Amino acid sequence: MATTSDIEKAAGVLRAGGLVALPTETVYGLGANAEDPAAVARIFQVKGRPPSHPLIVHIGGGEQLDGWVGDVPATARLLAERFWPGPLTLVLRRGSRVPLEATGGLETVAVRVPDHPVALALLSAFGGGVTAPSANRFGQVSPTTADHVRAELGDGVDFVLDGGPCEVGVESTIVDATGEMPSILRPGGVTREDLEAVLGRPLALPSTSPVRVPGQHPYHYAPRARVVLVEPEKVVAEAQLAQELGHRVGILLPPAFADAPVKAHAVVPLPVSLTAYAHGLYGYLRELDQQGCDLIVASLPAEEGLGLAIVNRLRRAAGPRPTA
Ligand code: TXA
Ligand code: MG
Repeated sequence: MATTSDIEKAAGVLRAGGLVALPTETVYGLGANAEDPAAVARIFQVKGRPPSHPLIVHIGGGEQLDGWVGDVPATARLLAERFWPGPLTLVLRRGSRVPLEATGGLETVAVRVPDHPVALALLSAFGGGVTAPSANRFGQVSPTTADHVRAELGDGVDFVLDGGPCEVGVESTIVDATGEMPSILRPGGVTREDLEAVLGRPLALPSTSPVRVPGQHPYHYAPRARVVLVEPEKVVAEAQLAQELGHRVGILLPPAFADAPVKAHAVVPLPVSLTAYAHGLYGYLRELDQQGCDLIVASLPAEEGLGLAIVNRLRRAAGPRPTA
């Protein structure tokens, strides 16, 4: 676990233009001084991420928005007050402190206040904003432990702050808050239901948002093994068939079928609660890769609560892959 002196050291690395992996409540981030274009450029290099994909600026509190964003509509202010610190990212007009390198050239910027004591201590010791994408290579599974980060990025990162396993386990919910009719651009740790309860009305659908969302490729969050999605009641049979055809099959086994006899290379019995599922999701995918599976059979949970984010990540993990 990170000590006070680790945090001082990490703040020094950021000041010197280096990269720090930091824990957040969602996933680990690969952080750089948001106001240092050269450091920001290194993030893209280390991740292998196209420079047009905008980053999230992490700040220490909602009262620190000045300079990072332009005007803040009343609705955005309400969401910030209610959900920060927490797994909500607001897309707003870009402020003068944000270099275009961090926004992929966009005039909007994504900002959030992470709800993790180590991240908040780092932001406070550093004093500025930290741009941080998830600390994985482009398109791969996001890291939810410090060990995942080390395995994934190795020497690419100058310092890794260990804050234990991430509690939420999936990325923040991204909301386009540039206007008075916010919409969800990426489902995540704050549920649609919680957002709508605070707003007092249904959220606009993503397709109605004028905001461009670069970096939302159909293929993303993907393990090495190919992911196949089927109906829950077909998971066991599909896995068995593929196993008989010579695949090394991993299963994300829905709780309703926990007692079924399963023929597969590796089995992850899923928890009943969607909160526990989200917390474990990326770890399960990594685990099945590590066990040498070449195919993962899974089904989609209900699209309610954190289920919306899980469905989004599984769909993308199962999406068409780039031909190398
Ligand atoms: O939970 C999280 O959000 C984690 C932790 C580290 O904070 N971060 C994260 O960052 O997931 P990343 O880079 O993996 O995903 C950020 C996504 C981009 O892919 C893009 O879709 C969206 O945020 N984004 C960033 N800036 C944007 C902008 N100005 N307009 C629209 N979308 C934006
Ligand atoms: Mg990511």
